[in-house]
Amino acid sequence: AFHKEPQRLALSSDGLLPHWDKAKLQRGMQVYKEVCSACHSLNLVAFRDIADLGYSEGQVKSFAKSYDTIPSLNPDTGEPSTRTGLPSDHFPAPYANDVAARAANNNALPPDLSLITKAREGGKDYVYSLLTGFQNPPANLPKELQPPTGLHYNPYFANLNLAMAPPLHDGQVTFADGSPNTVKAMASDVAAFLVWTAEPKLVSRVRVGWAAFIFLLIFTGLTYMSYRNIWADKK
Ligand code: HEM
Repeated sequence: AFHKEPQRLALSSDGLLPHWDKAKLQRGMQVYKEVCSACHSLNLVAFRDIADLGYSEGQVKSFAKSYDTIPSLNPDTGEPSTRTGLPSDHFPAPYANDVAARAANNNALPPDLSLITKAREGGKDYVYSLLTGFQNPPANLPKELQPPTGLHYNPYFANLNLAMAPPLHDGQVTFADGSPNTVKAMASDVAAFLVWTAEPKLVSRVRVGWAAFIFLLIFTGLTYMSYRNIWADKK
């Protein structure tokens, strides 16, 4: 009774004629990098993939290079060490392993966000609602549903109290394009970005579908016309 269905978040990548709003995806990536990446990994995304968001090859290289603790093995000694990022590296995880991740998060595990908009019912709507939905528990909430110490009330989360504290605050991220940085705006941007991480080929998939459909329409017309032509003089 206290759990709420997610609110709908309309994005340019929705529907039958989707397109990517690249400026928005870039802002969403900035929100991920500056906020979410403190706790959540993005294991399936490589730095070179962000060329899709409108970054040049040079920008991708310097973005990768801005990460200087990519785990690697020292090529001479074979000892574990770190190096600066290359475009082929993936976004590094914030914690060495799940045990360390749980230790830092009140024993809860922040899930990898690469596929989160596919993995959770409600997808982007759920992610957006979760990020904007933190609130004080309602006055009539039964005692057994009240957030225990360290958990935070959020009616969009299946069991109402989650281990993630509200991660976004108004004005937290400053966007180069001067876009609004309210909690809602940042949540919408990062949800759009996580739609892209989960299905980077969404837009081209739908385009190919349309091309196939239109081709088949034309082809159907052609076969019909040749059928008429072949039988034209038979009475
Ligand atoms: C869980 C998104 C920032 C810690 C989650 C979930 C999502 C999410 C979608 C999954 C909820 C579910 O299982 O259905 C985000 C986004 C962030 C962000 C988009 C940035 C805007 C953070 C930060 C921290 C954090 C900064 C740590 C300080 C956690 C933890 C959980 C979680 C511990 C597991 C909660 C539980 O299972 O009770 N987050 N998060 N998150 N997040 Fe975040």
